Amino acid sequence: MLFSKNKKIDMTNIPQHIAIIMDGNGRWAKKRGLSRSFGHREGSKTLRKIVEACYELGVKYLTVYAFSTENWSRPKEEVDELMKLLLEYLRNAEKEIKGKNVRIRVIGDRKGLPEEIRTEIDRVEKNTQHISGLDFIIALNYGGRQEITAAVTRLIEDVKAGKVSEINEAEIAKRLYTHDIPDPDLLIRTSGEIRLSNFLIWQSSYSELFFCDVLWPDFTKKHLIEAIMSYQGRQRRFGGLKC
Ligand code: IPE
Ligand code: IPE
Ligand code: MG
Repeated sequence: MLFSKNKKIDMTNIPQHIAIIMDGNGRWAKKRGLSRSFGHREGSKTLRKIVEACYELGVKYLTVYAFSTENWSRPKEEVDELMKLLLEYLRNAEKEIKGKNVRIRVIGDRKGLPEEIRTEIDRVEKNTQHISGLDFIIALNYGGRQEITAAVTRLIEDVKAGKVSEINEAEIAKRLYTHDIPDPDLLIRTSGEIRLSNFLIWQSSYSELFFCDVLWPDFTKKHLIEAIMSYQGRQRRFGGLKC
């Protein structure tokens, strides 16, 4: 049963879109005297469980931060390991979600990714595009500033071509990777860091934020439920007033 501290999760108020900054793999490994790549591998196991948990809870969209545009600045061995892991994940993606109503999508700058990863992304997106249950969105080579810059560049081209007469928020949002995805209701970051690190910076302007100290490989469905229950205790006002 989904209980926590004698309180029960409200299944009628599950956030439609949950976004997660999966942080702390390196520290998890270090604490155990293991290599950082071991931590990433363990983190990918957590991800499998959390996708499943979101599916069971009836979440409609789950977006996870897997690799940022800034993560290229890490040592080459770690970047290579992460790419290898991501490739493996994408290759097995359909097997992972077998029998579940999960659609897989990827957001981020694809041009900067290795060819073999791009091929897998195209394949998995095509094979799952008809699925209407949970949209599982992987942010890969993703950076919020890069996304906004690319959107504005396209918008300027469309203005010059006479396709757009007015520049407004909707015209920018239409050109983001997330153009057909609602903004996150709840954004979770693990590992005790209290920052967004360039994740969904446009889309999270009214998201409820939840930070916890748990390192990503240790994050479980119980922690997810705790975050959702915290969300359920909040009053979203969007700048207005509520009695
Ligand atoms: C998050 O874990 C995974 C990625 C950024 C790819 P980290 O690798 O950032 O782990 P810490 O923050 O060093 O512990
Ligand atoms: C954010 O974590 C990126 C991902 C989780 C993929 P980082 O570990 O890269 O963020 P900083 O460097 O601590 O801000
Ligand atoms: Mg980190």
